[in-house]
Amino acid sequence: MGPMLPIVNPVLWEIGHVGWFHEFWTLRHVHGASPLLEHADALWNSSTVAHDTRWDLDLPDRDGVFGFLSRVLERQHESLERGVEGAGRYYYELAIRHEDMHAEALAYTRQTLRYPSPADLGRAPAPRAGAWPGDVDVPGGRRQLGSTAADGFVFDNEKWAHAVELKPFRIAKAPVTNAEFAVFVEAGGYRVREFWCEEGWAWREQARAERPVYWLPKQDGQWVWRRHTGVEALAPDAPVVFVNWHEAQAWCRWAGRRLPSEAEWEAAAIGEPAAGGTRLAEGKRRWPWGDARPSSRHANLDFAHTAPVDVAAFSAGDSAFGCRQMVGNVWEWTASDFLPFPGFSADPYEDYSQPWFGTRKVLRGGSWATSARLARPLYRNFFTPDRNDVIAGFRTCAV
Ligand SMILES: [Fe+2]
Repeated sequence: MGPMLPIVNPVLWEIGHVGWFHEFWTLRHVHGASPLLEHADALWNSSTVAHDTRWDLDLPDRDGVFGFLSRVLERQHESLERGVEGAGRYYYELAIRHEDMHAEALAYTRQTLRYPSPADLGRAPAPRAGAWPGDVDVPGGRRQLGSTAADGFVFDNEKWAHAVELKPFRIAKAPVTNAEFAVFVEAGGYRVREFWCEEGWAWREQARAERPVYWLPKQDGQWVWRRHTGVEALAPDAPVVFVNWHEAQAWCRWAGRRLPSEAEWEAAAIGEPAAGGTRLAEGKRRWPWGDARPSSRHANLDFAHTAPVDVAAFSAGDSAFGCRQMVGNVWEWTASDFLPFPGFSADPYEDYSQPWFGTRKVLRGGSWATSARLARPLYRNFFTPDRNDVIAGFRTCAV
């Protein structure tokens, strides 16, 4: 079960909840089946079972939970063999992505709780690819922010694409690295009030943060961090990770930089220059590198490597403007509040976006633990600005 913390779920509960979500939305909602387990809703409906009570439920044991998941999967296979059309298909797509989200949550929960890295999952980061410093110019222009019906499966908060006007901006080719973040730490940045907004300073004071949460005092002049159960050297050219929005913001103020808005992030990731290069084109790419589906050449996704790789890696994944690793490796905090797009209305899974508008910041791009299904550049992830347990770093713009 693990300890009760506001940022994690009990592990056994979370696994059962994934099966419940599949069953609820596909077998019951689409096919009208009756519940496989009588009290499943009272155990695993995240909309009604309060977070802090999830440790006290009368859950089936481990075999019982996995048995439930197997039965759900079996029934789904039977239904899918008979064929699922149109509207029904949506709920399968939703349940698969919901499972992806919880798989990533379990990955960072294992880090939070000091559990070992899962055996036989992903590779260790590859040989050093190095740093990738510098900015690129992105021209201004009018472009469509958000998803369209042509984008396939989309979440309610991505609907629908609407015009936004962007001024020209300069954005980093890569996310901020451990080496770059270490300079701020060593300059005493965590103790300088003026680098932090009011809420950020309150977080820092309360957490008594002096450096990113998993960093340990230097050993023999080298920064190290606690990764799962061990202590490892920090890769200087890998992106800084497990920093919250306030830490990203403070680094920016210290460095004289700023976070991109989500509209800027999206333009840098999938926008293209119009002919002549002085304006943004109307169109967009599906992925930063074009329309090809993500492969192991493009991005660190789907647990390819079980930690962030250096920021210079994956050159085949560069965007039209030369930004690298916009997808995969680490989520990137943006400056933007998580807000509904104009004309928003909630999809059937009503609690997905709506309860969180206004209290979260938007992250884009996906991490090494995100599925390629979810890590589309248009996907809007969102967390409160104090969360430093998610696989997130940041990229910056020139002021
Ligand atoms: Fe969930």
